[in-house]
Order: sequence, then C-alpha cells, then structure tokens
Amino acid sequence: MTNSHEIKERVKERYAKVALTGDSCCGPLSSGDAEEGCCSGNNSVILQPSQSATKISKLVGYDTQELKSIPEASILGAGCGTPTKFAFINEGNTVVDLGSGAGIDVFLAANIVKGSGKVIGIDMTNEMLQKARKNAVEGGYTNVEFRKADIEEKIPVDNNSVDVVISNCVINLTTDKVKTFSEIHRILKPNGIGKMVISDLVTDKQIDDTSSVDPDKWCSCIDGALTKENYIASIKKGGFDTVEVLDEKTYTEGDHVDNRKITSLVIKAIKE
Ligand SMILES: C[S@@+](CC[C@H](N)C(=O)[O-])C[C@H]1O[C@@H](n2cnc3c(N)ncnc32)[C@H](O)[C@@H]1O
Repeated sequence: MTNSHEIKERVKERYAKVALTGDSCCGPLSSGDAEEGCCSGNNSVILQPSQSATKISKLVGYDTQELKSIPEASILGAGCGTPTKFAFINEGNTVVDLGSGAGIDVFLAANIVKGSGKVIGIDMTNEMLQKARKNAVEGGYTNVEFRKADIEEKIPVDNNSVDVVISNCVINLTTDKVKTFSEIHRILKPNGIGKMVISDLVTDKQIDDTSSVDPDKWCSCIDGALTKENYIASIKKGGFDTVEVLDEKTYTEGDHVDNRKITSLVIKAIKE
C-alpha cells in the first residue's frame, strides 16, 4: 500500500542519497533492476554502475564542451535528455528549472542568459539544494538562485513572469502531474512568449493505481511514468493549448522494466 505522501518521502530520500554520495543513477536501470537507479537510460549502450555521471550525461545528449563549461559536481547523470538544447533560451531571459538537482541545466542556462538574465532552480530535497548552492558559489554564478519547493504544490515564482521553464526527468516523479503543469502555466509569460521545454520519461504501460506502485521503481522514474498520450493530455489539462513533441527515443530492450517500454521525450508547450 503506497500513498502519495509515502512516495514523496521516498523520492526525497533517494535523491538526498544521490546528492550526498554522487552515486551514479543509471546502471541498475540499464540492467533491468530499478531498485537503486535514477531516471536516465540510454538508447544504445548498456551502462554499468561504475560509469561516471559525465559519461552517462553524454549518452543522454550533452556535449563534452558544454559539460566542461559548468561545475563538475553539478553533473549527476540523473537526467534523461537535454532540454537546454531544444529550448532556444536567449540572453536576458528568466528561466526556471524544475527539479534542478545539483544544477546541471541551471548552470547551462545561466551561461546563455548571462548577467541580464536569471535562472531559478527549484527542488524539494535539502541535500540537492545545498549541493547546487555550493556549486553556484564555487562556479562564481551571480545570475542563479535555488529555491526550495514541491513543484506540485506551489512553485515559488510570480504569475506571468517566466520566459522559459525547463525540467529534466522530474515530472514523472510527481503524483499530480496536472497540478504541476498548471503551476508551470501560471508562472509563464502569456501571449505566446512563455514556453515550457522539458525532458521526461513515458511508458507504454502506465500504473493507474498508486496503491500498487513499487516506491523504488517510482523513484527510478518508472512507476510514476504516464503513457505519452496521458502525458500530453495532462499538459493540456494544465492549461496549455499548443503542445509539440520535439524529440522521442525509446530505450533498447535491455532498458525495458517489467516488460514496460521506456521512452524519453522532449516536449514543448507554449502559453497562449
Ligand atoms: C532525476 S533527478 C533530476 C535532477 C536534475 N534535473 C538533473 O538532470 O540532474 C530528480 C530531481 O527532482 C527533484 N524532485 C522530485 N520531485 C520533486 C517535486 N515534487 N518538487 C521538487 N523537486 C522534486 C528531486 O529532489 C531530484 O533532485
């Protein structure tokens, strides 16, 4: 029997451990055992737990050059895509990264928005926030801020104030996806200016009843994953009319979990 409170506590525990130990997230997922994995899989190479976070990040699409441009400790190998590559962020933009972890995408976005812009990372796990803030200080970033919040409760950002919301392998971990998308919709600038560009995992067989999920597999981004159709429907219920799939990669059979296919999506939605 699992309820959403219990799931959330387990997610916090899992990612506190990742923040403190720097454990690679990927290996067990790739070998079909999601007990201790995070969210990344890959499309062609079977990863081992010993593989570095940087190697895992390259497999999900980050370039060597961009990874060298940010604090090394912000790279956890916990993402499942590269939202900053698809978001067309501009200098001066206000960007919010939901479930920012140790800050990988916050720092990449901060390098683009420069001093006239701002990037706000949001996370609910204290240990991740501490790690991200330390990375910001050590990296000399003055245009970033990390705020604590549960993104499916309230995102601590003003209405209609954000140019781009990004997120990397996080929304599948929430128990109320529609509430999360409606919060994203609330903070984006209106009239076609504000956009959400997110990477996330979906599956071909969704678990509908939270009482029958395995909390460990939820933390590994499997049991909380929706089908692609339901994911898009949740975005629309959250208030977005225009939704577009920008990239889609279904993991190889070795990365399936309990006969469920896992697919990584990059999705864009615009606030009209
Ligand atoms: C799989 S990790 C991804 C971290 C980061 N985006 C990256 O690519 O390295 C998921 C992160 O989302 C955070 N998270 C999960 N659910 C959350 C929620 N409801 N509200 C805020 N943060 C959440 C976790 O604490 C963790 O840092």
